Amino acid sequence: MEPADLLKPLLRGWSLPLLVFTVAYTLVYLPFVEKGLEEGCSLLPETHFVLYSKRVVTPNGVVPAAVEVEGERIISVVKRSEAPKQRDGGPRVLDYSNAVIMPGLIDVHVHLNEPGRTEWEGFLTGTQAAAAGGVTALVDMPLNSFPTTTSKDTLLLKLEAAKGKLFVDVGFWGGLVPENVANLTVMDELLNAGALGLKSFMCPSGINDFPHTTAEDIKAALPVLARYGRPMLVHAEVVQPSPEERSLQPGEPSENSRLYSRYHGTRPLSWERTAVQQLTEVAKDTAVGGPAEGAHIHVVHLSDPEESLHLIKEAKAAGSSMSVETSPHYLAFAAEEIPDGETQFKCNPPIRHADYRELLWKALQAGDIDMISTDHSPSAPEMKLLEEGDFLKAWGGISSLQFVLPVTWTYGASRGITLEQLVKWWSTGPSKLANFPRKGSLEFGKDADIVIWDPEASFILDSNYPIFHKHKQVTPYAGQTLSGKVIATFARGHEVFREGYHAPRPCGTPLLPVH
Ligand SMILES: *[C@@H]1O[C@H](CO)[C@@H](O)[C@H](O)[C@H]1NC(C)=O
Ligand SMILES: [Zn+2]
Repeated sequence: MEPADLLKPLLRGWSLPLLVFTVAYTLVYLPFVEKGLEEGCSLLPETHFVLYSKRVVTPNGVVPAAVEVEGERIISVVKRSEAPKQRDGGPRVLDYSNAVIMPGLIDVHVHLNEPGRTEWEGFLTGTQAAAAGGVTALVDMPLNSFPTTTSKDTLLLKLEAAKGKLFVDVGFWGGLVPENVANLTVMDELLNAGALGLKSFMCPSGINDFPHTTAEDIKAALPVLARYGRPMLVHAEVVQPSPEERSLQPGEPSENSRLYSRYHGTRPLSWERTAVQQLTEVAKDTAVGGPAEGAHIHVVHLSDPEESLHLIKEAKAAGSSMSVETSPHYLAFAAEEIPDGETQFKCNPPIRHADYRELLWKALQAGDIDMISTDHSPSAPEMKLLEEGDFLKAWGGISSLQFVLPVTWTYGASRGITLEQLVKWWSTGPSKLANFPRKGSLEFGKDADIVIWDPEASFILDSNYPIFHKHKQVTPYAGQTLSGKVIATFARGHEVFREGYHAPRPCGTPLLPVH
């Protein structure tokens, strides 16, 4: 007798109960479980609701309006002077009176460092900080996770590590490194697996497993990117001999290393200018009819509003496909105001002088800088050497993800920026770069990615303030008084944050490229 034959009579007797159990499990239990899980995604029980305020930032101006959300999408935006009445059986009406309702921020430059360096940051803490700050989608950088995201397999590791940890949607840039330039199949596989574009450094990145590339490497990558229609993001600094380095006496390499000016002198504007000069040459390939038509070059965190920006403007005018971002710390701080030893201000390129800060604001307002992104780049706190205050040895990277809305607004309002400009720099601009066609504006059919905030409410970023990134104390914004308090954040229709509290569980999804 075969063993299987022994089972037959058993199964015969059990087949009816087994069938009943299977049917009940599938029809009754599973939908119940799924519904229960869905409910945990949002602080609001309703999935059909209307958000109303007197200041809704729409593509047609700032107007009193009702934004109707059903499921994950916006199903209407209607201009009206009063909130709609709550009707029995109708959608829930949430009247935010004079608060601002606008598209959630999209941050295209974030280092969440997972997997591999979760003692620096992580998907859970990073996306909680994002949600608390009104950032409803972000793109994670290919470094400083370990491994770095430079191949299909390492991207798959990222996706695996992110599972169940995203409070907002997260996309991924891949890394361009000499290794995948040498084997374009690896680059092709990385893009095919879901990298939204590539990022490279033109100077040492600070991480050994993310070596830098030359302008020629970038030129070689562009035709591959062109086939996918995806961008090349570049950290534009090329190491130049520094006159201040040379003037130091032997045996005094760290002299005055607590002085910010000492650090600033080691990374002069000429580094950025040289890199941008080389990039604008390479970018000619992206013009219509060029060998890399369809590719795009994006300069990250620009600190130089003079020569470098001028070169980018010229390149754009000549038909190259280029864009540029700057970061909040270049807009908020100035080199001459940074106290000695305060290494939480260290980043690359360095924060420049006050006149540059003003020129960066002017360039944003003139439309010459396309967008803002945080470059949120935390590390383990001990790497910032806060006690020694050694600017030369400390890790370069600033934590700011949760604060960029109030920071941009606080420093921008005194310079006359508008809510519409805020949306252009933080939502529509970034949505174009990352190619998120369903995100970046409050319109019919778009994802219900929405931030509701009070521009007039100010708060002090002191130790009582709820901060959600991993190392809460390490940020140059500590102690500042900022205006612009986030009241609530909706991500794809889920209320993921409300006045200090997050939804019970994270329900963000990875943002893979749209074809
Ligand atoms: C290039 O990478 C592909 C994919 O990983 C691999 O199959 C191939 O052997 C590599 N080619 C060379 C020359 O190393
Ligand atoms: Zn960065």
